[in-house]
Amino acid sequence: GAPVEVDIDKVEAGQLIRVIWRGKPVWVVNRTDEMLTALPTVNPKLKDPTSLASIQPEYATNENRSRKDQYLIMVGICTHLGCSPTYRPEVAAADLGADWVGGFYCPCHGSRFDLAGRVIKGSPAGTNMTVPPHYYKTDSLIRIG
Ligand code: FES
Repeated sequence: GAPVEVDIDKVEAGQLIRVIWRGKPVWVVNRTDEMLTALPTVNPKLKDPTSLASIQPEYATNENRSRKDQYLIMVGICTHLGCSPTYRPEVAAADLGADWVGGFYCPCHGSRFDLAGRVIKGSPAGTNMTVPPHYYKTDSLIRIG
């Protein structure tokens, strides 16, 4: 499959956009400082906080699972059985519970992921969601693949 280029200039703070790469949904999330600050506090709730058992390029094997902290680039497919989770960035969602930390919720069997796509304990999914290969052609243009 061909690489896909994404103009991220108009992705607002906190917003998620979707593109298709190799027939798969890929998300680009413009994470706010608040979201990034909260990520390390979620670590004790995670199955694989350092992502060493999960799939991402070496340059995204870090705390925020990204090449640039602000932007999460992620294959939007649940690592359980392949549904596409929904984006639920709010904290303490009415339907997901007071302990909801903000992230992604898979409606198929209830897997929960944080705003770095890291799987939360108790989820049927075993590993974090996948970060695809990508690089920045310019500050506002990403090439995926
Ligand atoms: Fe997402 Fe099963 S496919 S929880």
